[in-house]
Amino acid sequence: MIDLADQKVQTYNRGLDGYHAGKTRICDIDGKNGILSYRGIPIQELANNASFEETVALVLNGELPDVHELEAVSGTLKQWRNVPEQAIAVLDHLPEQSHPLAQFRTAMSVAACLIPEAEDVSLEAQKRRPLRILSWTSQLAAASIRHLKGVPYIEPDSRLGFSSNFLYQVLGRIPELEECRAFEVSLVVQAEHTIHAAALAALTTYSTGADLGSAVLAGMGALSGTLHGGANQTAFQMIQKIGRPEKAKSWVQKKLDEKYRFPGFGHRIYKTHDPRATALMPFAENLMEKKGETVLWETFLAVKEEIETALGSRGIYANIDSVTGLVYYPLGLPVAAFPIPFCIAIQTGWMAHCLEYTGGKMIEPGAYYITS
Ligand code: ACO
Repeated sequence: MIDLADQKVQTYNRGLDGYHAGKTRICDIDGKNGILSYRGIPIQELANNASFEETVALVLNGELPDVHELEAVSGTLKQWRNVPEQAIAVLDHLPEQSHPLAQFRTAMSVAACLIPEAEDVSLEAQKRRPLRILSWTSQLAAASIRHLKGVPYIEPDSRLGFSSNFLYQVLGRIPELEECRAFEVSLVVQAEHTIHAAALAALTTYSTGADLGSAVLAGMGALSGTLHGGANQTAFQMIQKIGRPEKAKSWVQKKLDEKYRFPGFGHRIYKTHDPRATALMPFAENLMEKKGETVLWETFLAVKEEIETALGSRGIYANIDSVTGLVYYPLGLPVAAFPIPFCIAIQTGWMAHCLEYTGGKMIEPGAYYITS
């Protein structure tokens, strides 16, 4: 037994707060100043200029692609759009009331059994997987959302890029340019976020010698919680429930008295504005106003103002999960499906971290045994 009083023994914080799981070249987060960069490029710059395909290449390969590299990435993503039928068919056998993210994860699990060279866990084989997984992920995400809506799967359109094809497969129509860009920016700013809880779940799985598909599935499970990626659904439902900007003040005050944990607010690392939220807000505002959702948008602004005024001194500000729903809702995505696009985007980072983890050392921290 380890003696906790022994000064040589490493201590720990609840939730491993303040600990780092390793070194990385993929992403840097300055939580004090609210800066997030992928491979040295601030996400605001990527939100202004980069496609999701470019972001994927940057996160996975280390640099923004040139024209030929981009063509290769886009081509491979398109080439792998034919997801196995069994993975889509499994959706019909799942309980209707199960969460859409759980249904999506189950379909992914079936696909992971069917992915080529599933048993080959050599680094070379693992490196061939990220674009296949991302492409199948997008197909199965669209299939899961259509299943939730009770409408049949639509085949992909090879003329369309990653984001516009996803929206086409979900909505059954080619999205307008503004819709597509707003959605794409949501993917770009959520593509990577260092070793967060879900990334650690993925990395831990990969470190055991498991394949990248299993790592992604582990990440999906961890992301689903309402403290993590599930918060975009609950954050939007909170705004919907409040309903009008003039109700924000009294509602927030009442909830502050109840010590309520506001979904979509607060973050382990950011103690100021979340740069992902800042980058996405203009796109959300534009779409919400275009679709006549001004009251809901103003409700969000009023709630944000009230919460940040009350809790900003404790470092609690709106996080990305308070904003993504305000892009997905005017696009017509069902509220219960909001965590799904986040899950598509962030897999990019999970896979990059797994492939960066070349140490070959299994992650296995252990715990202090106590008797009371
Ligand atoms: N509303 C009210 N109070 C909050 C909130 C919030 N959203 N977030 C943190 N706090 C308070 C806690 O109650 C706690 O107060 P106490 O010290 O008086 O007990 C204090 O701030 C610290 O909270 P912890 O949970 O210890 O801090 P942690 O760094 O683990 O919190 C977390 C991060 C889990 C994201 C938290 O802010 C939260 O629960 N937010 C709401 C859920 C959410 O939006 N999750 C998505 C985060 S972004 C992402 O994962 C993609």
